[in-house]
Amino acid sequence: MRTDDVLSLLYTHKGEYLSGQSVADGLGVTRAAIWKAIESLRADGYGIESSKARGYRLESMPDLLGEREIRLGLDTRVIGKTVHALDETDSTNTYASRIAGEDAPDGTVVVAEYQSKGRGRLGRKWESPRGVNIYTSIILRPGFPPSGAPMTTLVASVALVRPVRELYGLDAGIKWPNDMLISGKKSAGILTEMSAEPDRVRHIVLGVGIDVNMPLNAFPEEIRDISTSIMLELGRKVDRAELLKRFLTELERCYFMLVNGESARLLDEWRELSAMLGKRVRVTTLTSVTEGTALDISAEGYLLLKKDDGAVATITSGDVGIL
Ligand code: BTN
Repeated sequence: MRTDDVLSLLYTHKGEYLSGQSVADGLGVTRAAIWKAIESLRADGYGIESSKARGYRLESMPDLLGEREIRLGLDTRVIGKTVHALDETDSTNTYASRIAGEDAPDGTVVVAEYQSKGRGRLGRKWESPRGVNIYTSIILRPGFPPSGAPMTTLVASVALVRPVRELYGLDAGIKWPNDMLISGKKSAGILTEMSAEPDRVRHIVLGVGIDVNMPLNAFPEEIRDISTSIMLELGRKVDRAELLKRFLTELERCYFMLVNGESARLLDEWRELSAMLGKRVRVTTLTSVTEGTALDISAEGYLLLKKDDGAVATITSGDVGIL
């Protein structure tokens, strides 16, 4: 028996008492061995209530994104079957790209408590203070041509926004191409990087940073009024491991839709969760600034912008401001 088996049993019966005897019988060991495992879990920060008459009950989990916390109750087939949980790293995307080159399997998840060189799009810095947020990168090997890559960013945005709506009831939405907004403010970003041959993706690294329990003063001053975190919007801290697992579960569902040729359904979900369709926007690309109405998303994952002269432009990359 491993200590993790005891934890897993308590976790599946969260909120209920399990008698020492039933845990011992279930795992085929003595009650003394169970007691030892409980003591070791407590030393690791698990709050386990015990009562002579009723047994053990899991009350609380440590606020950690360790391999154990991530695996506990994660019911996926591909995403998260291999987990690299790091205390700190330069950037989980850099780390994931490296191990992807060393044959890490499809669905490998890298997560870190702190990033010393967290990266955003367009060479920007991603603020990554310790222990309050989620910094994760997922390695995908979809086996489609490089033109399919923008769709994986869409996959990640649907997988991100839906749990935030469902778990916390927040007004979360997607801003093309890679942001989650809550009540109009940025609260997460996606950085998709790819290694490809001309006609085949070798791997994609899907980097996701979610501002979960980040206090306002941890945001750099220049982005403080356009940024937010789940905690700031909800008025309480939330369980990072629970959110990460919901995200990974949704990611798998959406990733399967994509690779199984059901991207029309995926696009419909994206439309339903969009924070910008039908709104007036300003699109800034490397070479131009254009205003218009965000009309739709194309089958390839590009933004369709209705310009003021009525023409529809296909935007393949750029920054969008909702006006
Ligand atoms: C953006 O909005 O510009 C994208 C931000 C992406 C940040 C995440 S945090 C985990 C992963 N590692 C990184 O260095 N960046 C991504």
